[in-house]
Amino acid sequence: MFPEVANETRDVILGAPGRTVSPNTDAPKGPIMSTYQIPVIDLADLQCTGRAKIGQEIAQACESFGFFQVVNHGVDVNLMHKLREVSKGFFHLPDEEKEQYRKTPDNIQGYAHSNIKAGENKLNLASNDFFYFLSPMSKRREDLWPRDPPEFRQTMRQYAKEAKELAERLLSVMSEMLGLPPETLQVKLQGPTGEATYTIRANFYLPSRTEEIQVGLGCHSDPGGITLLLQDDAPGLQVKFNDEWIPVQPLLDGFCINCGDQIEILSNGRFKSIEHRGMACRDRERMSIPFFYNPAFDHVIAPLEELVDDAHPALYNGATYEHYFFNVFVKRGVGSGKQ
Ligand code: SIN
Ligand code: FE2
Repeated sequence: MFPEVANETRDVILGAPGRTVSPNTDAPKGPIMSTYQIPVIDLADLQCTGRAKIGQEIAQACESFGFFQVVNHGVDVNLMHKLREVSKGFFHLPDEEKEQYRKTPDNIQGYAHSNIKAGENKLNLASNDFFYFLSPMSKRREDLWPRDPPEFRQTMRQYAKEAKELAERLLSVMSEMLGLPPETLQVKLQGPTGEATYTIRANFYLPSRTEEIQVGLGCHSDPGGITLLLQDDAPGLQVKFNDEWIPVQPLLDGFCINCGDQIEILSNGRFKSIEHRGMACRDRERMSIPFFYNPAFDHVIAPLEELVDDAHPALYNGATYEHYFFNVFVKRGVGSGKQ
């Protein structure tokens, strides 16, 4: 069974952060006021003199919120704008054109439209998404990618490359902050094939047109490794921290980064995979595009040996990512949170 953790351990992981984080004293007064603020970290000096300081900021964020935003991250901002443009262009196509890319019971890659109305924390409004494997190449099916807008495929190819490189830059500094060689987390996630598994999803929420709070994507923690989220200018991502929903202000030139469950497991609970949800806007569309850098399905993930000793016993059993995905993540379901 996986991952059975003792209740007190669970409390540490789900509830109290290991370190104190600064309250948001500058929080704007208004409906989205929050005690906390997700940090924005400037990566401009990551490869030179600023690495140690940036590393500390990243580690502190990973140990508390499990979330941080980055700017000057090395991904071409024009490419980020282009990806938003082609993705929105696709969602704006007539339904009959999008239908040809629809996911099927045999094929999880493609477009989906759901119109489910459910409880507050569930996937509960007319939402659209697409999902594709970008790596390994054996699972990458460019023939399933939209042909329209015409630049969609070329943009996606270039984005796959640059987002992967950013994910690996972050994993390397996170490894160092765990006191380990820089390649550690990347190698552990890649597993024996050495080929990373990464995927992309786009969530497109229609305007809710109601005063009621509208959850587009219910409360969940990401099951995989590390997530790089590209947002548009419509706010809606919220992170659950100390029983508060902290809104993340979108940065058009930045990424919101979060640790998934497998990073929490590898780090033996030091870096947190925190629950979050995606909200729709009342008056306008909203889009968010997560890029997931995950373990291969058949690869076993367990706490790193170097982080386990008498004073720090393993908090998790090892399991393949496939087992984790279907027996833990899918079973608990989006909307039910992590418990
Ligand atoms: C996500 O968890 O995939 C992002 C939710 C959102 O910001 O819409
Ligand atoms: Fe997520």
